[in-house]
Amino acid sequence: MMFLQLAVLLSLVLGTLLYLLTHSVHLDRLQPMCPVESRAPPAGDPVQFPFPPLQYKRGLLHKLRRSNATTGRLIQQLPHAVIIGVRKGGTRALLEMLNLHPAVVKASQEVHFFDNDHNYGRGVAWYRRRMPFSLPGQITIEKSPAYFVTEKVPERIFRMNLSVKLLVIVREPTTRAISDYTQVLEGKERKNKTYHSFETLAVDSSTREVNTKYKAVRTSVYAKHLEHWLEFFPVQQFHVVDGDRLITDPLPELRLVERFLNLAHGISRDNLYFNSTRGFYCLRFSRRFSKCLAGSKGRPHPDVDPAVLDKLRHFYRPFNQKFYQITGRKFDWP
Ligand SMILES: *[C@@H]1O[C@H](CO)[C@@H](O)[C@H](O)[C@H]1NC(C)=O
Ligand SMILES: *[C@@H]1O[C@H](CO)[C@@H](O)[C@H](O)[C@H]1NC(C)=O
Ligand SMILES: *[C@@H]1O[C@H](CO)[C@@H](O)[C@H](O)[C@H]1NC(C)=O
Ligand SMILES: *[C@@H]1O[C@H](CO)[C@@H](O)[C@H](O)[C@H]1NC(C)=O
Repeated sequence: MMFLQLAVLLSLVLGTLLYLLTHSVHLDRLQPMCPVESRAPPAGDPVQFPFPPLQYKRGLLHKLRRSNATTGRLIQQLPHAVIIGVRKGGTRALLEMLNLHPAVVKASQEVHFFDNDHNYGRGVAWYRRRMPFSLPGQITIEKSPAYFVTEKVPERIFRMNLSVKLLVIVREPTTRAISDYTQVLEGKERKNKTYHSFETLAVDSSTREVNTKYKAVRTSVYAKHLEHWLEFFPVQQFHVVDGDRLITDPLPELRLVERFLNLAHGISRDNLYFNSTRGFYCLRFSRRFSKCLAGSKGRPHPDVDPAVLDKLRHFYRPFNQKFYQITGRKFDWP
């Protein structure tokens, strides 16, 4: 009887090993898409990680979990880092790109634990169960862009883990506000509903001033929101990602995040390739598995009255200065 159990266990272990062997594809053997990418390898060789190459991370972890032989190694960990915002800043792209790193596992869904009272009431054990399975030594990350602008969230995250790392990805504030508007507009159009123009929402019709009650305008006042977070966390616990640059030239931004998360360099040039049809980078997990971000992420914005654009840029300028000053990261926003 004992013998039989041992035999079953052994075959499970062997099966898992075989699976890992057949599925491991070394990225450095890949042919680069275009010659530019093959030039000059990044400074320092990518570090070998003590994890199986989890290019198909989700599927692989799922299979490992099902085989009882390895169940003991996989755990659901509270996030070590949270992408707290901002909406339309590029949070999805950032999460997906970080997930290329062998030591990072993402929560696929926006969990909305800290900003939703109902979810928050379910307790931290519920939150942990929303986290992906990971190996000890890997870190888990979730993103919920509403966290950044929701009053109650900083304190709640502080109560979960006062050392958690906080990632904020931002774009030029006026562009972000229009992108925010555009997403709502598309939702209305899908339901055949009409919607106000951006100009009527962003500018108060009686005063002709910027309408700070309009949420898409308010969200872009990054310094104001950040100041609220700083009542709970030291500024060193935040890292600001340039969402505009992440789209045009992701690798340097990802390096900075790796450093902030104390991760060895694990995302290489081969993991990202530019798809000129989309005008976007796509992610290559392995020779056989790559994925592009959803098309809706690159929709065109409506033309906005240049006078309104000027008004908004002028409005954001002092807040931007403040934001640079607090974070130590300067952007060349107008
Ligand atoms: C794992 O264990 C459970 C119960 O402990 C059992 O029902 C299941 O069949 C096992 N799975 C495998 C793949 O052996
Ligand atoms: C809190 O977050 C830090 C930073 O990611 C991590 O090192 C630490 O293990 C976390 N603590 C708990 C209890 O999860
Ligand atoms: C919206 O209108 C179009 C054409 O007028 C129609 O084909 C479509 O079914 C409508 N959609 C909804 C959600 O009502
Ligand atoms: C590039 O993008 C186009 C349009 O979305 C898509 O059909 C195509 O499969 C992509 N190519 C690669 C190599 O990802």
